[in-house]
Amino acid sequence: MSLAGQVALITGGSRGLGLAIAEALGAAGARVAVLAKGREELDRAAASLASRGIDVMARSTDVTDAASVDAAVAAVRERWGRLDALVLNAGTWQGAPIVNTTEAQWDLLLGLNLKGAFLTLRAALPLMQAAKRGTVVGISSIGGLTGQPGSAAYAASKWGLRGLLESAALELQTDGIRVSVVYPHNINSAGRALDSPEARRSNLDPADIAATVLHLVSAPAHVSFPHVDVWPIAAGIGVRG
Ligand SMILES: NC(=O)c1ccc[n+]([C@@H]2O[C@H](COP(=O)([O-])OP(=O)(O)OC[C@H]3O[C@@H](n4cnc5c(N)ncnc54)[C@H](O)[C@@H]3O)[C@@H](O)[C@H]2O)c1
Repeated sequence: MSLAGQVALITGGSRGLGLAIAEALGAAGARVAVLAKGREELDRAAASLASRGIDVMARSTDVTDAASVDAAVAAVRERWGRLDALVLNAGTWQGAPIVNTTEAQWDLLLGLNLKGAFLTLRAALPLMQAAKRGTVVGISSIGGLTGQPGSAAYAASKWGLRGLLESAALELQTDGIRVSVVYPHNINSAGRALDSPEARRSNLDPADIAATVLHLVSAPAHVSFPHVDVWPIAAGIGVRG
């Protein structure tokens, strides 16, 4: 699965799933742009990727801010002139019963998990459309496929992401751009929603999600993933798209 010569952009690539995805795509030969908040963490991630021989661009970016996203994508265009894989991973989890969910929590979850993905997709697509090729992978959650008591705002954001990306998949077919969505659950990272002995026993590692993303990104352009495969929740991952 060689991605030699290709360019991948990963939002939220400074830790957790995003960093593991950057490592996997970079190890397969891609040049990687990681966009995230938090300069120090981003610098550590960039140093770690570079130490593996990966050509990396780390850019402090707020994906909820259109100007910040547009500038990051412009920097990728300027440095490498192409974009082959876009991984919409930046996201966070907060949970509360609906009556206790604050407006600030709603705005955070919908802003980062949904609007952030939209703004990044909108900024990055022209680079792929110009080349008539590329792949987009969204990192959703099992909460994007089922209702979740105590997690309604998060589920709403991830269902929204599903609507955005399933629409994109149809809209972009004629551009040769394949769109997939991964639905992880309970992965061992800072963003994990559950932290109980049961959760820790059943979880997967970010590298498992990264391997799935690598598979989706590196499949030949004519291959689509039309079927729905949703693993049982305990298995930790589902793929649709
Ligand atoms: N960890 C899990 O168990 C799990 C399960 C299901 C889905 N997910 C999804 O996977 C994705 C990654 O989760 P994680 O556990 O690695 O999260 P994490 O909290 O470890 O990392 C989040 C990343 O997003 C970045 N980020 C946060 N706000 C940002 C902003 N405004 N602009 C740009 N970047 C920003 C952070 O800098 C960081 O790099 C999320 O979308 C999450 O919803 C995770």
